[in-house]
Formats: sequence, C-alpha cells, structure tokens
Amino acid sequence: MKVLGIESSCDETACAIVEDGKTILSNVVATQIPFHKIYKGVVPEIASRKHAEWILPVVRQALKEANMTLDEVDAIAATNRPGLMGSLLVGFTFGKTLAWATKKPFIAINHMLGHLYAAQLQTPVEYPFLGLLVSGGHSIICKVNGFDNLEILGTTVDDSVGEAFDKVAKFYGLGYPGGVIIDNLAKNGDPKAAKFPVPKLDENEHRYDVSFSGLKTAVIHQADYFLNEGFEASKANIAASFQETACNTLVSRLLRAVKDTGLTTVVAGGGVAANSRLRQMLSEEKNLNCIFPPLKLCGDNGAMIAGVAYHFLKRGETSPLNTTACARIPQFKRGLANLESFGRR
Ligand code: KG4
Ligand code: ZN
Repeated sequence: MKVLGIESSCDETACAIVEDGKTILSNVVATQIPFHKIYKGVVPEIASRKHAEWILPVVRQALKEANMTLDEVDAIAATNRPGLMGSLLVGFTFGKTLAWATKKPFIAINHMLGHLYAAQLQTPVEYPFLGLLVSGGHSIICKVNGFDNLEILGTTVDDSVGEAFDKVAKFYGLGYPGGVIIDNLAKNGDPKAAKFPVPKLDENEHRYDVSFSGLKTAVIHQADYFLNEGFEASKANIAASFQETACNTLVSRLLRAVKDTGLTTVVAGGGVAANSRLRQMLSEEKNLNCIFPPLKLCGDNGAMIAGVAYHFLKRGETSPLNTTACARIPQFKRGLANLESFGRR
C-alpha cells in the first residue's frame, strides 16, 4: 500500500510517499526557515501563506521523486493536530480535497504519533516501549503500547524543551532555529561553566514531568549569577551549560520511567531528538536501548505521517472528510492523562 503523507503543522511544507509503512519512496521537505529567520521565530501568518504557495509543488515533487502518478497512490494522509491552526489547515484541507477528487481513502494523523513512528521507519520496534517525544511544541514521556496507544506519563508543566533552546538562542542573538545552533556552539563550551538550576517538581505528583521555563529564565536573566568561579560567561559556555541541564532534566525523568515500568527500550522522536548531547547521554546508559530516528527524520516530514497512516489504514480506519484540524491536544501539555487510542479522530 502506497500512502502519500502531507505535513504542514508548523514551518515545513512536506510530502512523502511511503510503501507499507516502511519503504520511503520519496520525502520532500520544503523548509520555510529563511522566511522566519529575520523574525527569530515562526510567524504564523507567513507560515500559512508559504504553505498555501508551496503545497502543490511539494506534492508534485514527491510524486516525481517516487516516479509515480497520483493514480498509483493508494491512500492519502495529512497531519490535522497539534500545531499552528493556519498551517495545519493548508496541508490538511489540501489532503482532504485530493482524496475527495481522486476518491481515495483519507486519514487524519496526529503529528506526535508521526514523530514517534519516525524511528520505526528504519528500525521496527516491538511494543511496549517508552517514548521520548521532544520538539518545538512538546516534551512527552510516555509508555507506548501500540502505534496509536500511548499512556502519557509526563509532559512539560510549562515550556517545551525545543522552545527553551529557541528562546535562549534568540536572547543571545545566536540565530534561528536555536536548537541546532546551541548544539554546535556547545561543542566549544564547557558544560561545567555554569550551574543552572534544575526544576524541583514534586517527586510523586510530577514524577515524570519536566519544566524548562525556570531554566530558560535563569539562562537569559541570571547567567552571571549561576556562573562558576574561574569561568567566562562566553556564549559557548552558556550554550553548553544550558544544554547539559536541559538534557539532564529529560534523562533523569526518563530514567525514573525506565525504573518504574521496567521497560528498557526507548524510542525518541521530534526535532530535539537530533541533539547530539542528548543522544550521547542516552547511549551512555548501559541498561538502555535507545532508538533515535536518523537526523533527517527527527524534524517535521511527511514520511513519518505516511508511515504511521499505513497502520491505521491497514486496520480499516479512515477519516470522514468533515474531520477538522485542532491546534492543541490537552493531554500532551501536562499531567498524567491515560488515554487509550487517542490516535482516532
Ligand atoms: O519536531 P520539530 O521539527 O517541530 C515541532 O514539531 O515543533 O522540532 C523543532 C524543534 C525546534 O525547537 C528546534 O530548535 C529543535 O527542534 N531542534 C533541536 C535540534 N535540532 C532541532 N534542539 C536541540 N538540538 C538540536 N540539534
Ligand atoms: Zn514536529
């Protein structure tokens, strides 16, 4: 089954064709970064307009690179949540329209299920396992019982980890998007230069929750205060110390989940899963088998959408064409919600 997957939840206009949930026939990602860079963040209005401009050429390019015609596509999938509403609507409406016009099955896909599936495009993993979803909008630790069956164990109680990377980079004038810039800059800095505060959340109520707004504020407004003696407050030192604390926060909560559930396989996903220090820290955990997507599948792409869509379709599920888009998924932002099969619309 060849699925055409569309992704437009934020600032990448993307389309891919994936066969049977595993073979990537094409994967086109048109990034809008140059258009948002001057504003040091994503401007939703610009994002929606660029999606509208690019969606047709991107879909055409995906077909061309797969050496296929639209007739040869078996089903169409598109992200419908969570994300920027204007951005989501462009790709999602385009996908629904294409499905309607061609009378092909259509399925709406949860972006975060896509991120979780990205690693599995390369390495199928047996359920259950732990999921670590870290992106610009989310920080989620979950138990994964199936491709659409997650038990949310922890989330952020405030900012997401990607947001903290981006805001720190913005404040220090490092550039946009901040994650990869801080990752690179940190290689020349000393992670011990500053001892930034780690979030103190109740060990029972927030056992697997993370928090990044205190860290972000400390790095932005009180860097000198937290600097250790004998170290210079250079951008590289600040980047390295910030990154170390942010990654330690994620790893410490994840290790709690490993200990409590007895699950030792972790599948990571989302833009921040590209972070080299996070990858290194987790690879050093002897008892852990941590699986990361290849770098090009960490950020937003259509392959992860088409990949996970295949499993819904194989189960006979499709979405009616009056399905809508949705900016938020409340359970993804905070707390201990236990949702079964929220992948359904
Ligand atoms: O998954 P993604 O492409 O979009 C969302 O779903 O949000 O994630 C984007 C986020 C941004 O905050 C970006 O700065 C961060 O991922 N990111 C990184 C790295 N590469 C991208 N953060 C840390 N280290 C990286 N190497
Ligand atoms: Zn994403």
